[in-house]
Amino acid sequence: SDIEKGTYSHFMLKEIDEQPIVMRKIIEAYQNENHELVVADDIRAAMRSCDRIYIIAAGTSYHAGLVGKNLIEKLAGIPVEVHVSSEFSYNMPLLSEKPLFIFISQSGETADSRTVLVKVKEMGYPALTVTNVPGSTLSREADYTLPLHAGPEIAVASTKAYTAQIAVLAILAVDTAHAKGLEVNFDLMQELAIVANAMEALTGQKEELEELTRNYLATTRNAFFIGRSLDYYVSMEGALKLKEISYIQAEGFAGGELKHGTIALIEKDTPVIALATQENVNYSIRGNVQEVVARGANAMIISMRGLEQDDDAFVLPKVHELLTPLVTVIPLQIIAYYAALHRGCDVDKPRNLAKSVTVE
Ligand code: G6P
Repeated sequence: SDIEKGTYSHFMLKEIDEQPIVMRKIIEAYQNENHELVVADDIRAAMRSCDRIYIIAAGTSYHAGLVGKNLIEKLAGIPVEVHVSSEFSYNMPLLSEKPLFIFISQSGETADSRTVLVKVKEMGYPALTVTNVPGSTLSREADYTLPLHAGPEIAVASTKAYTAQIAVLAILAVDTAHAKGLEVNFDLMQELAIVANAMEALTGQKEELEELTRNYLATTRNAFFIGRSLDYYVSMEGALKLKEISYIQAEGFAGGELKHGTIALIEKDTPVIALATQENVNYSIRGNVQEVVARGANAMIISMRGLEQDDDAFVLPKVHELLTPLVTVIPLQIIAYYAALHRGCDVDKPRNLAKSVTVE
């Protein structure tokens, strides 16, 4: 095939490393020579005329959708709901008067998402597909498509598609804000370029991350990821990566929700990976870490430059606060990779999983 691993041992590692390149491709693809954002006029019009957005997706794409909701609501001022496609089709929420559906799908072939698309088209609602495969079923059957420009993703565990999805949703959010005359007090493309550089720096820190994997995840049967706000969404994605390829039972939780049940699972040396990249919850997430440490947890804090404290295990380069998931996820992808590698798992083809699920 024309898609080769080259010097890489696994597609997943190659695709992790491609993320800064993909970010720069997206920056290029979505702006014109005057450095203005380029989103098709009909998509712009659909965003302006809806009263609510329903994001429909599965797996990692669902996690990107959660971040997308945040971006669209904060920047474009449109209410957004995010739904797992397999649930939405059988338990449809009460819809607003003028809904716009956004399907997020790396492959564009996920059957559960297609079932929803067919239904909403029958109901006469507009649909936009954000996908890595223009020409895919979800792309063809929707009214509009926004491409990810991530290049083929081969490893079953999605990495570069997740960050590409978030970047494209950020562009859509800022473009809509501009179209609505709302003020955006930062230059998105400049911030995405900073993200690309940060990603590149992080992919160069693999040895450090491999060492952390050895210290925290070598023999454990389970692990918890906690975060608040945007870090909560990334916690869920970090947990999904780890369980998919290393078979360690992992869950992502909202920091404040831990004490309402899950903290009962914390034992001596239970790994807890805590994300601390959000200024307004930095104090409270660290409080949650103290709660689990007091119960014996082996806590690893991943924080961001400017918010770091002495004992943090890993400090991320600083990026715009709304875009932190784009960099926070990188060490979690790398940690999952090494956990799977050290356990002798088939990194690119984990058991029981398919790259795209075309059955319901
Ligand atoms: C499968 C894959 C996941 C992916 C999900 C959604 O379960 O194993 O990695 O996130 O499908 O796929 P999509 O192509 O719709 O993003």
